[in-house]
Amino acid sequence: MCGIIAYAGANEAYPILIDGLRKLEYRGYDSAGIGTVNGAVHLHKRTGKVNDLVSYCEDKNTSGNMGLGHTRWATHGSATNLNAHPHQSQSKRLTMVHNGIIENHQSLKEMLEFHGFEFETETDSEVLVQLVEWYQIRYKLSTREALGRALQDVQGSFAVVLHDTTAKHQLLAVRRQSPLVVGVGDAEYFISSDSMTFDRSSESIIYLEEDVIAQLCYNEAPVFYSLEDQVVDQDLLPFDYKKVAVSKGDFESFTLKEIFEQNLSISRTLDGFENSDVDEITKMLQSTDRIIITACGTSWHSGIVAEYLIEKYAHLNVEVEYASEMRYKSHTLGDRDLVIGISQSGETADTKMALEIAKSKGVKTIAIVNGVDSSIARIADRVIYLKAGIEIGVASTKAFTSQLSAILMLTLLIARTKKSLTIAQVDEMMAELNKLPGYVSETLSSSKQMARRIAYHISDARSALYLGRGISFPIAIEGALKLKEISYIHAEGYPSGEMKHGPIALIEEDLPVVAVVNNDDSAAKIISNIQEVKARKAMVVVIKNKNVELPKGLADHVINVPDVPSYLNPIIQSIPLQLLAYYTAKLKGCNIDQPRNLAKSVTVE
Ligand code: F6R
Repeated sequence: MCGIIAYAGANEAYPILIDGLRKLEYRGYDSAGIGTVNGAVHLHKRTGKVNDLVSYCEDKNTSGNMGLGHTRWATHGSATNLNAHPHQSQSKRLTMVHNGIIENHQSLKEMLEFHGFEFETETDSEVLVQLVEWYQIRYKLSTREALGRALQDVQGSFAVVLHDTTAKHQLLAVRRQSPLVVGVGDAEYFISSDSMTFDRSSESIIYLEEDVIAQLCYNEAPVFYSLEDQVVDQDLLPFDYKKVAVSKGDFESFTLKEIFEQNLSISRTLDGFENSDVDEITKMLQSTDRIIITACGTSWHSGIVAEYLIEKYAHLNVEVEYASEMRYKSHTLGDRDLVIGISQSGETADTKMALEIAKSKGVKTIAIVNGVDSSIARIADRVIYLKAGIEIGVASTKAFTSQLSAILMLTLLIARTKKSLTIAQVDEMMAELNKLPGYVSETLSSSKQMARRIAYHISDARSALYLGRGISFPIAIEGALKLKEISYIHAEGYPSGEMKHGPIALIEEDLPVVAVVNNDDSAAKIISNIQEVKARKAMVVVIKNKNVELPKGLADHVINVPDVPSYLNPIIQSIPLQLLAYYTAKLKGCNIDQPRNLAKSVTVE
């Protein structure tokens, strides 16, 4: 979703802004813009990619040692040059970039129009910058005071950077429910919605608290104010560039690199689990009779896997909710419930809101997140960090398998706490978990060629069906999601037993049907479901463990994965499905790292 980068220092701002915008591209956007400040503000905005903006700027004035940049993912108003950020106030005195949503923008706009303000764009962001100017004029306030007053009128979420042409070297930055960090270098400031845009020049970092205005002037120490204009403190923490630096290495895309580094990311998740808040989490578990998991998209699929695992091995009831639906359910949450939010980014607005609802009811909360210091990590009582490393590909791959690995560790922790497994059983499962990175490496190398070959048979299809049973059912729906996200082929995932209740009507000759067969008591049943599919001449692709025997002629294509205990299968089976989606999308010439319309962190509800 939208991204912000801003700079104030002694260097030329333009290359810093463009570099930052390129690093933000992975989040998903449909237009980009910059404003550099050199006495006047030079504004340039373009729909399309950052490269389109760069070509457009070639013969434009982009000079200045200060500037603001933005990638926009359209919400209020379509993706046009005019709606792209930065936005300016009516007098052009104020220039602003904004992430988030001003929910009451309509009533604020009507009030401003009543007072003679005119609007150039359809965005809620323009309303905010105009509102600041209205406060400046009406009450003769400083820019900072006017910003504070305006934000007290605003409902919704925001991360904002504001420049006033009358305050030459100054930027103001503030956030609410939307991330914004300040990198502090040698007499220079970098402001961004994501610290991975910072380079080695940032020596320290400030994670701005909500509703705190940072006043950042070139060559001066930062000063922080409340919205009521009282000076407040903010922590300055050391910034470790190595932790956020990312590159594709020798891979053709970030997504492919992330798929192929899953042995390492999973290792980090498993090693890091013991360093999470394990003692406190154990205490929470002692007073827990029911777990409610809330998440979106791929993370929701992890939640379904967790439901199967925790119910089977830890004998605790689990419910899984779409975070976006949580507020519409009248859950009777009580003090023996535990709500777990799962999120790769840690910034998903729906998941954040769902956890806040749980907290407001006094329920214990845990977050399973990859995004360090993310909003969701800060909301939850306790955090399990995935430590998978930054995921740049918009479609989640390594974060998903790390979520599943953390969930396996959590399942064993619950089983130990609730004594649903003996110590010997826990130790045996732990020993298998420790072999997981090895199994993952083996699966990556054994399934790559086959997935590539099968992709040729799928890439021309208009749609595909994915089937699974038991613990492999969520893996089938995740496989379908990956295919649709990156190759734009319509795909549906179903529990295979449900097929005869409707989706079987869709089966026709050559329809790709991808079936995930587990080596447990569900195998015989799913095999008979595949027979129903084959009888209708669909093209059958089976992902199965080596030791599972298929009736002759049942599958057109088979990808064998190692013989692992069935509780490891969700992770192992995900790998060929990721590769299948990847190579299909590649054959179709899709932009795999940044699929259309998708955003890496979905910060709107
Ligand atoms: C799919 C994907 C999305 C996310 C969803 C939730 O590949 O990445 O479905 O899983 O938007 O995002 P997080 O996990 O960041 O809360």
